[in-house]
This record gives sequence, structure tokens and C-alpha cells, in this order.
Amino acid sequence: MNSKDLTRRQFIAVASAGSLAAAASRTIPAYGNIAGKASKLAILGGEPVRKNRSWPRWPHWDDDVAESVMKTLKSRIWCRIQSKSGTVPTFEKKFAELIGSRFCVATGSGTQALHTCVEALGIGAGDEVITSPYTDPGTIASILAARALPVMADLDRESFQLDPDDVERRVTENTKAIMPVHMMGQPCHMDRFMEIAKKHNLKVIEDACQAHLAEYRGKKLGTIGDLGCFSFQSSKTIACGEGGGITGDDEELMDKCYTVHNHGTSRRGRTEVAGPKYRMNEFEAAVLLGQWPGIHERFARRNANANHLTARMKDIPGILPQKLYEGTASGSFYLYAMSYRKEHFNDVDRSKFLKALSAEGVSLSPYIRQGLHREPWIEHILNSRVYKRMFSGQRLRRYREETPCPTCDQVCEEMVMIWASGPLLASKEDMDDIADAIQKVYENRDKLASI
Ligand SMILES: Cc1ncc(COP(=O)(O)O)c(C=O)c1O
Repeated sequence: MNSKDLTRRQFIAVASAGSLAAAASRTIPAYGNIAGKASKLAILGGEPVRKNRSWPRWPHWDDDVAESVMKTLKSRIWCRIQSKSGTVPTFEKKFAELIGSRFCVATGSGTQALHTCVEALGIGAGDEVITSPYTDPGTIASILAARALPVMADLDRESFQLDPDDVERRVTENTKAIMPVHMMGQPCHMDRFMEIAKKHNLKVIEDACQAHLAEYRGKKLGTIGDLGCFSFQSSKTIACGEGGGITGDDEELMDKCYTVHNHGTSRRGRTEVAGPKYRMNEFEAAVLLGQWPGIHERFARRNANANHLTARMKDIPGILPQKLYEGTASGSFYLYAMSYRKEHFNDVDRSKFLKALSAEGVSLSPYIRQGLHREPWIEHILNSRVYKRMFSGQRLRRYREETPCPTCDQVCEEMVMIWASGPLLASKEDMDDIADAIQKVYENRDKLASI
């Protein structure tokens, strides 16, 4: 079975019976709503597939959100320590319930959540944490902030996620944790990461910053490892501008997370450890609570639309939706991501494909342009007095030698995606526009070289 079949099969597993039946019974002409093979590319003067170019806007707000923020404003409780029943403690209870964890500690960002976990697990100078180079800089920043070494492993080309075999190859005697990242809001290979962690006695901090409500083997992401971290930054599928959250079941460890994020001061009022001040404020939690109605509906709609898109993509060689691992039940769909394989498009570069698509009224884009293993922070730490003091010259030399992640480079070059938080809330017909436009460009691939 090739990866494309796998992806489709797994997406189908996610579909509700209704949307599945609709997708299966829909008679899709050679390409959806458009006239046929002869249809001229819009970039060459033809009619664009999509004339209405607007998409549902994101982040979401409505009267409930506005009312929730005004209520907090008028209450004069603007900081979490003013009240045990303020918006932040309320949000923590509701988010823990939503995700299926015993506890939640809200923070000011996903980066702060991750850093708090690293500190709470006692990871610091001289320690190593294995993670992905294909992620937001916040993932790496959380490890660097603790003065530990972020060791980057390479990716699986088809899932865009960390490759478990490469993670295991990079375990050393100083490795303390794995920080798997659920990219695009889809589960990474958690079975394997949990297995590796058990074998080498490592902690697992799930970077679920993009993965709200996504489910893997009956559990929500962020509840499988020792700790899970979320971001509520504006673009995320649950958003409040800037915000974050830690989830976990271990009461003692979660209490430590609270202490660390509260400048080292525990719930008992004693300043017990070193810690930054990372508290979420009451306005951020008010925005999040105001959005509660509709969270499940929005999640279901993104999944149904993603299933529909994936079903349509199966007819287009050279466009491979993100591979999902066995056990994936649903995704957050922060992004809907695909691999553009130019060998199926007469070897035309991705930029021309995207240009032609944009003229059809459908804008896809590359995502991360280059992995974090190619950013200057590496030279910065390798040359820093602090890192030279904490790690041996031999370790730092080997670190430099082992930074290449060729599959990550390939993923960066091949990726095309739609920011999905808003657009995947649109209608099935809107999804057909996306698929029709891609199919039209594919059918006209022999003309792309000239644009
Ligand atoms: C995978 C991942 N990790 C970490 C972060 C950091 O979260 P924040 O921006 O809330 O600090 C993000 C945010 O984009 C992310 O996507």
C-alpha cells in the first residue's frame, strides 16, 4: 500500500458516517465544478475556478466572546491570583476536562508552557532533549531557556513528523526527554515515542501547540506523554492572541509546573524554586471561555472538510496529503498540508504551481521555509561561553556534525498548505474549489513551464 492510500484510508476512518457517505456518493466529474480538460489556466487568460476569494475569518469572535471580556473588565479581577474562581482557574478546569487530563496550568504562551515543563522535570545545564527541526522556534527556545541542548532528529518525508528511528539514534547518556511535535495538529508516532522513552528512561513532553482536540488511540493529544503543551496564539484552532496551557495527570508534577510558572512560588505561598513569571492573564482566559460554545462543532467541521479534500486529492497524482499514522482518529487541522511532488508536474517548480493556483483564486503556500537546523542560533550556542562551559568540546563538535536533516530540507521544499483554522470552516463547495483548482493546474501541467 502506498502512502497515499494510507492517508486516505486513515482520513476515511475519521469521517463521520454522514460525511463519508456524502463524499463517497458524490459524483465528481473529471474535475468537480469546472468545465473540462480544455479549460484554460486563469494565469494564461482563462476563467478562474474561484471567483469569491473570501474565507471564514480567524480568530473567531462573537457576542459571547465580547460579553465574556467585558465581564472580566468590569469585575476588576484582571490577574489570576486575585480570585480562585476567576477566568484563568475556570479555564484550567474546563480545558483539562475538554482534553481529558486531570490538571491544567495556563500560561502566557505555548513557548512558556514548554519551558515550564522542561524546568519542572528538572532538565537543565548539561542535559539534552530530542525534538524536531520542523517546528515553531518556540519549541527549541523552551529547551534553550533551560540551558539544555536541543538535539534535532530528522523527519518522515510523508507525515512531516519526527522519524522515531532517527530520534532513537540520537539518544545519548545525557538525553533526559523527547519533545515530539504534533505538526499541523496531527498525531505524530506516539506509540513509538512512548516505547523509546520507556526503553531509555526518558520523559515525554508533547508539543501539542497545534493539536487541540486531536485524538490518537482513544486519547487526546497532550494526554499521552508525561506532560502536554498547547498554544492559544491567534492563528491556532482555539485562540486568544497569546496564551498557552500545560496538561497532565501527575498531581505532584503539575503542582511543580504551577510553582515554576509562578516565579517559583507555590500554591502554598512559599517561594520554593527558580522560575519565571508565566501566568496567563484573566482577559486571555475570558476570550477562551467566550469561545467555548461551538468548539466541538468547529472541530468536527474542519475534520469533515479535511476528509472531503483528501478524498478529492486521491485523483491528483503528485499531491499527497499528510500521511497519518495508524491510530489517528481525528486531527486539529491547524494547517491542511500536502506534499507537492514536481516529478508529476513535468518537473515544474513549486513556485510556478502556486502562482498558477493563486490565479485560480486558491492561495496555498509553503510552510516553514527552512528547518531550525539551518538557523543561526546553532552557531550562536556553539560559540557561546555558557554552552562551552556546560558541554564538552567533543560533544559540541559532534552536535555540529549531526545537524543536517536532509529529509526536513526535502519536506520544506515540497510542502504546500492552507492555513486551516478559518478556511476549513467553509462549505464543502469551497473545498471543491480548492480541489478543482489543483486538479485544473495538474491537467494543464504542460503549460506551467511557460508562466
Ligand atoms: C509546534 C509549535 N510549538 C510551539 C509553539 C509556540 O507557541 P507560542 O507561539 O504560543 O509560544 C508553536 C506556535 O506556533 C507551535 O506551532
